[in-house]
Parts: sequence; structure tokens; C-alpha cells
Amino acid sequence: MLSINPADHKVSEIYKLMTGLIVPRPVALVSTVDPDGIANVAPFSFFCGVGSNPPTVLFCPVLRSSGDQRKDTLRNVEQTGEFVINIVSDSIAAATNATAAEVSPEVDEFELAGLTPLASQIVRPPRVAESPAHLECKLLQIVFTGQNPGAGVVVIGEIVRFHVQADLEDNFRIDPLKLDAVGRMAGNTWVHTRGLFDLTRPK
Ligand SMILES: Cc1cc2nc3c(=O)[nH]c(=O)nc-3n(C[C@H](O)[C@H](O)[C@H](O)COP(=O)(O)O)c2cc1C
Repeated sequence: MLSINPADHKVSEIYKLMTGLIVPRPVALVSTVDPDGIANVAPFSFFCGVGSNPPTVLFCPVLRSSGDQRKDTLRNVEQTGEFVINIVSDSIAAATNATAAEVSPEVDEFELAGLTPLASQIVRPPRVAESPAHLECKLLQIVFTGQNPGAGVVVIGEIVRFHVQADLEDNFRIDPLKLDAVGRMAGNTWVHTRGLFDLTRPK
């Protein structure tokens, strides 16, 4: 076994270790708006559910090393307190990847990626029409784990509305094969959720 002390290594090396070991990660395609209503959409794979009462999620836009440290998504959430998590199926994996382009805030990433904005019911950011499920969220808390480049910023939100493509849902159960979600591994590698197996939980 290799034993690695993170303090002895570059941030980029530690990032590679984490993204290689913490797999597979679901991908949140997060839509936000700035105070003028300009929409932004970007993927985040440091993402997970937190609890169901109240229904909460988190995602983490890390601090950049150059220019404005804050990603547009973080700045928008800080200023407006709202975001939408769009679930990423295989059919929108390439478009989702296209939204990760580092472009200036005034560029409409919906247009850039060929995605269609769809009005939300409760929050201002639009949903991604092509996504099979949307979680409208209101900000609960933002936690900075550091102030230097690469530091995590944990954005915690409460889900105030779920939208699920009707043919995916049966009595609140989601059909995973119809959802066909994708996840992220390290680097440019993604993963399908098609190799399912069951294990009966011990009593
Ligand atoms: C699949 C995928 C997952 C990503 N996950 C993250 C992440 O968890 N945290 C992060 O800061 N950036 C992540 N990125 C990079 C951001 O999407 C990228 O920096 C994006 O330009 C940020 O957009 P924004 O400035 O509009 O918020 C990811 C990129 C891809 C393609």
C-alpha cells in the first residue's frame, strides 16, 4: 500500500487521487441566474443528496486558481439563493460536458450546448428541458473549506420542487434503466449506470 500525506503533495496531485478514488460520482447539471436574470448552467460531480427531511442536496464549486476565484454558479447562488439540479442521462452527457467550458458570465451556456431552458415553478433559474428530472432548490447554507485555489465550497440547498419524467416513476420508485443516468470518473472518463446488481440488506 502507498501511504500518502496530502501535505507533501501538489493540489493537482491530490485532486487526481480524489477524483480517481471517489467514484463513480453522479453529475449535477446546475442551472442558476445572476441578479439580472442571465442564465448559467454547469456540471458538478462533487454532488450528493444529504437527507430527505427536509429534502437536501449539496454540490461543490471549488475555488479557481486564476482570475475570479468564484465560479459563475457559486456567485449566482450567493447573490440569488436559488439553483436547479438537472439530472444527467446518457442522452445529454455530451451537451452537459459542453456546458463546462470556461466562458465569461454573459455567454448563454444553454445556447452553447444546445440545451433548452424551461421555466421552473418556484425558483427563478430555468430547468434543462432535455433532462429527465429536475430538483428546484433554495439555498440553506454555503460552507468554505478553505480560501486557497482548489478549496471546496459546499453549497447546501433544500429541494422545494421535484420534476420527474412521468414514465420513469412508479409510486415514487425511479426506474434506473429508463433514467439512464451517467456519472463521472477521473479526467475525461464517464460511466453508465447500466451494470446493476442487487444485494438483500441484512435485518
Ligand atoms: C462532468 C464534470 C464534472 C465537474 N465537476 C465539478 C465539480 O464538482 N466542482 C467544480 O468546481 N467544477 C467541476 N467541473 C468543472 C466546472 O463545470 C467548470 O469549471 C465550469 O466552467 C463552471 O462553470 P461556471 O463558471 O459557469 O459555474 C466539472 C466538469 C465536468 C465536465
